[in-house]
Amino acid sequence: MHIKNLADRFIQSYGNVGDIRFFFSPGRVNLIGEHLDYNGGYVFPYAIDLGTYACVRKRNDTKINIISTNIDEKACIDLRNLEFNKEDDWANYPKGVMYMLKKEGYALNGMDILISGNLPNGAGLSSSASLEILMALIISNLFNEGKIDKFTLIKAAHRAEGEYVGVNCGIMDQFAVCMGKKNSAILLHCGSLKHEYAKFLLGDYSLVIMNTNKQRNLNKSKYNERREECGEALKIIKRNKNIGSLCNLTIENYEELESLIKDEGIRKRAKHVVYENDRVKRAYEYIRNDKIEEFSKLLIESHESLKNLYEVTGKELDTIVEEALAFESCIGAKMTGAGFGGCAIAIVLKDRVNDFIEKIGRKYRTEIGYYANFYLTGSGEGALEIF
Ligand code: GLA
Repeated sequence: MHIKNLADRFIQSYGNVGDIRFFFSPGRVNLIGEHLDYNGGYVFPYAIDLGTYACVRKRNDTKINIISTNIDEKACIDLRNLEFNKEDDWANYPKGVMYMLKKEGYALNGMDILISGNLPNGAGLSSSASLEILMALIISNLFNEGKIDKFTLIKAAHRAEGEYVGVNCGIMDQFAVCMGKKNSAILLHCGSLKHEYAKFLLGDYSLVIMNTNKQRNLNKSKYNERREECGEALKIIKRNKNIGSLCNLTIENYEELESLIKDEGIRKRAKHVVYENDRVKRAYEYIRNDKIEEFSKLLIESHESLKNLYEVTGKELDTIVEEALAFESCIGAKMTGAGFGGCAIAIVLKDRVNDFIEKIGRKYRTEIGYYANFYLTGSGEGALEIF
């Protein structure tokens, strides 16, 4: 929805009585480094230019109204009661952020909010982190003179998702959504939150996001199970080597110690983590040196590992990635995000992109029985107030 239409809709819903402020918060794509954030490893995401818009106006009481144009629903929250309530459904994400920031002593008062997003929900592009960071930034700019530092916003949003909504995710999504930079990807070390930007321009190639339209719900998925399996692997390794997280292991360390892990499933999870972490570091160097072909090969290896070792892909993601790789001008493809459905990415020669989308779309539809969607987005800024 265009910002002008959004403002009209805001006035229609809440009346024309005071200044409206505008915000945008992006989604993210992770290039490589899946399921490493909660293992203290490297990830390599970027903020995309699809995301969630908001119009906001202060109120003089403790009520927060949020209308979403996407699902045509209104949530009414009272700041005097910010406890989690299952019935609040999607509104628990912004509510969780309010809860966390208020608990930390930040100022917060009533607001009327209209939100509208162009990110597909539950598709692995971080629609929930986009909404959380949007809320955190609104609270900072409206009530705290924009002075809450970005790490505090990221951590509050992350805690809202983990401790409040109950999805035990890592910190990558909130970080990427908040810290994105135009035409850049972020190499983030999740153990220390140290990060560096790399220019992310693919020359003759484009990155195509492929949405399998296979919905996944992180609550119900095996996400938390994978985390536990990694915890188990860490416990076993720690008996012999004093490490803080699985990603502290080099490939050589891992190979010396892997026989200690007797359970094959758990061994496979740990192997993915260690090798994937090594791939991220190489991928970063390749991108910095414009070695797009070499970088793309690592994406293929990453998907193989997520399929065979981490076992988080599934028929839809595997089909779309296989079909993409069978297209002669596609040099790399992998799932992105948690897996179990959602989106994959492909690196495709620029002037073959239309052909690619048409062919892969048709093949996917024949094999899976429903449509895939394709998006071409650039890498954009992290969350910001517009104007
Ligand atoms: C989801 C989580 C992230 C991360 C990815 C997998 O997107 O929210 O924290 O673990 O899955 O890389």
